[in-house]
Amino acid sequence: MFILEISIFLHMVGIALGVGGVTMSTILSAKAEKDKDMAKVIMKNMSTFSKVIWLGFILLVISGFGLVSSVKWPLDTGLLLAKHLVILLLFIVGVAIFFTQRRMRKHAPSGKELSKEFISAKKRMKALGTVSLILWYLVVAVSVFI
Ligand code: HEM
Repeated sequence: MFILEISIFLHMVGIALGVGGVTMSTILSAKAEKDKDMAKVIMKNMSTFSKVIWLGFILLVISGFGLVSSVKWPLDTGLLLAKHLVILLLFIVGVAIFFTQRRMRKHAPSGKELSKEFISAKKRMKALGTVSLILWYLVVAVSVFI
């Protein structure tokens, strides 16, 4: 009863939070690179963005199982498996981002000097952020063909 409709609704909310969150955090990170004053404020708010993205991810996984168990039309199981592999990668990258963010906070500069640890964590964060952005859009692209 209404499982399909609720799952579709939660899947859409999850897509909006996940893809919207990762897009906004990429744009703001690029802004922080150019404007050092904004960088501090943006960095402080990054964990809020991460929470929104994780909330989207959790909603997608829960509603995804709701969809698989309630859709009344045939699904392309090969594509669904490919999608699950990309989602697994996305999860691994998400965990790596979580630990890199923690490392960045731990070594955050107090004055103007940037520590080696902070610079290397920042570089890793940039690479992981780009991979995450690509993976999010890839999952959405694969999903529309299921
Ligand atoms: C990051 C995670 C995910 C993203 C971004 C995502 C995205 C999407 C998108 C964009 C659609 C297309 C909606 C449409 O065409 O109306 C979709 C459909 C679907 N998703 Fe996901 N999804 C995710 C996770 C999951 C998971 C974990 C499952 C299964 C356990 C799942 C199962 C499905 C199914 C079965 C459909 C097809 C529903 C239909 O035929 O209308 N999704 N998803």
